[in-house]
Amino acid sequence: MSDETYTVTIEPIGAEIKCRADQTVLDACLREGVWLPHACTHGTCGTCKAQVLEGDLDLGDASPYALLESERDEGAALLCVAKPRSDVTIEGEVDVDDGVEIHPVRDYAGRVVELAEVSAGVRRLRVALTSPIPFNPGQYVLLRTPDGETRPYSLAGLPGDTIELHVKRSADGLATDGWIFKDLAVGDDVSVSGPYGQFFLRPARDEPVLLLAGGTGLAPMKAILQSLASTGCSRQVVLYHGVPTVDDLYEHEWLERFAASHQWFSYRPALSRDSFDGRTGRVPVLVAEDYPRAAGHVAYLCGSPEFVADSMKALMKARLFPRDIYREDFFDSADRASGRNVVRSPLIGR
Ligand SMILES: Cc1cc2nc3c(=O)[nH]c(=O)nc-3n(C[C@H](O)[C@H](O)[C@H](O)COP(=O)(O)OP(=O)(O)OC[C@H]3O[C@@H](n4cnc5c(N)ncnc54)[C@H](O)[C@@H]3O)c2cc1C
Ligand code: FES
Repeated sequence: MSDETYTVTIEPIGAEIKCRADQTVLDACLREGVWLPHACTHGTCGTCKAQVLEGDLDLGDASPYALLESERDEGAALLCVAKPRSDVTIEGEVDVDDGVEIHPVRDYAGRVVELAEVSAGVRRLRVALTSPIPFNPGQYVLLRTPDGETRPYSLAGLPGDTIELHVKRSADGLATDGWIFKDLAVGDDVSVSGPYGQFFLRPARDEPVLLLAGGTGLAPMKAILQSLASTGCSRQVVLYHGVPTVDDLYEHEWLERFAASHQWFSYRPALSRDSFDGRTGRVPVLVAEDYPRAAGHVAYLCGSPEFVADSMKALMKARLFPRDIYREDFFDSADRASGRNVVRSPLIGR
């Protein structure tokens, strides 16, 4: 850890924070409780782009697709990967929605207490932490791999001292194939930091809710559902969970039980290759059939970038505005390398 620290001033609020030379500006801000927009925290999506007004930043490992050469020339930076080389002043968007509490990022040590194969290629990982982590339902943690890299995983439970993550195996993936699906075992020590992200339930919005999840995009939805149940929900909530076949469904019994005990909630598994209740189809197609007009809803989308993009298109065609749609794209190293799906409209739910 570097001893060298610099002062980062965030305009227009004028907040001043200390940032180590080996720390990203976003990390320093989030640890001080200064909220800045961010999503992937790995230089891939461009959500944390900000203008440097004064001083010098090392731009770090910013994807050339998320931070274009011309933007670099004009003094823009991705704060999730940029580190200070001098005192700096940046211009950040520091808007926080009403009714949302910001929880500063902290490091947490923990021990694996469950590692269960919940469907082919998906593991549920439960980690008991040495102290409880507060977060808004929908947010994620960064899990540190034995190689010192970090990978984002959405929190599937309620805030507390045991966290639940749903992890999908990636062929030749460093964290999954190389660790979580290989050597990791119950009893192992792990460390996480968090909470991160701006994909979380907006409690102040009282419209009926559409939750659209692809694969392990179910994880933050499970947290959102439990949070709604714990605070007493008065709006209709419909969850579509898209997977290829019946064998890929997971948390199916839990969701059926949850639907049976909460009359405000409907669970609609969507199988793209098998049929379910006589229906076969991808989530965006089924949603388009069920909601020719979706105006008046608020939607939360989570899964692969392709799943989120297709679901977004379906909802916008059904007249739902971008301001009514919140999204979490599960970008990975392949998306980062290819730049596919990373160019996002600044209008889309943040
Ligand atoms: C905000 C957020 C939340 C997330 N939450 C979840 C979650 O709850 N559950 C979940 O399962 N996933 C989640 N993800 C995705 C997850 O963080 C990892 O990306 C995923 O688990 C793969 O990690 P890995 O280290 O195994 O694979 P990586 O090593 O990152 O590789 C991923 C794939 O890309 C390929 N690859 C690696 N490098 C390159 C390259 N240079 N060029 C081309 N291909 C390459 C690999 O072979 C592999 O198939 C989330 C992602 C984000 C951004
Ligand atoms: S949050 Fe910085 S690029 Fe995604």
